[in-house]
Amino acid sequence: MRLAFDEQGSGPAVVLLHGFPLDRTMWSGQIGVLSGHHRVVTPDLRGHGESPTPPGPYPMEELAADVVETLDAAGIEPPYVVGGLSMGGYVALAMAERLPDRIRGLILLNTRAGADSPEAAARREDSARTIEHEGSTESLSGMVEKLFAPSTLHGRPELVDQISGVIRRTAPGGAAGALRGMATRPDRLGVIRSLRVPVLVIAGEEDAIVPEEDSRAMAEAASDGELIVIPGVGHLSPMEAPGATDAAIRSFLGRLG
Ligand code: MLT
Repeated sequence: MRLAFDEQGSGPAVVLLHGFPLDRTMWSGQIGVLSGHHRVVTPDLRGHGESPTPPGPYPMEELAADVVETLDAAGIEPPYVVGGLSMGGYVALAMAERLPDRIRGLILLNTRAGADSPEAAARREDSARTIEHEGSTESLSGMVEKLFAPSTLHGRPELVDQISGVIRRTAPGGAAGALRGMATRPDRLGVIRSLRVPVLVIAGEEDAIVPEEDSRAMAEAASDGELIVIPGVGHLSPMEAPGATDAAIRSFLGRLG
């Protein structure tokens, strides 16, 4: 499947994968900053943004295959740096498992390597059914409270409105497909352990969705891993703290050469 994407800049490719139930616009800050020295590519994953919404479920491996097909069709040569936030990180790890030779560095933001517990998977199925029943993603709107640190939630209403709008606009079938796909993803800590490329893990100190120990476990599993914890930030580090996130990514890319 060919995905909608933005691209800017030239040089070594950096592919950034958005979280659930968001779209590529979450990287608008990073595109400008990183494209000075890199070709930055930001796809909309299947069922999100302007990409097609086929019937679900969407296993993370299929989302990864879509990204690879889209990059190939656009003539973007591997190896690339792949960065993913939360669900985007699950997709990045699925890609690293299948096609490790295509990856020259991994950036895992506000994400985890572990699988869902049975309870978490059941909650996702309930949520997918509600979305299908209502024919809308309105039931996901409460998620914004968990996505942001309290200071962002109360101090940056424009950002909260922007994300609420993206969640509302996500296709119901796309959200349900992704929820069911995330529910069946396997544990991929072993993938990180087996990778022979540098791994940067970025965590938000106040992330209500991914505990810091999950981020630490990924950085420690990597043969060349680094953990940056950004203070005062929730689940959306690139949007809540673009300066600190960009600085961490730029220093990582600089190290890769
Ligand atoms: C995301 O931000 O992509 C989601 O919180 C991931 C998840 O629900 O596990």
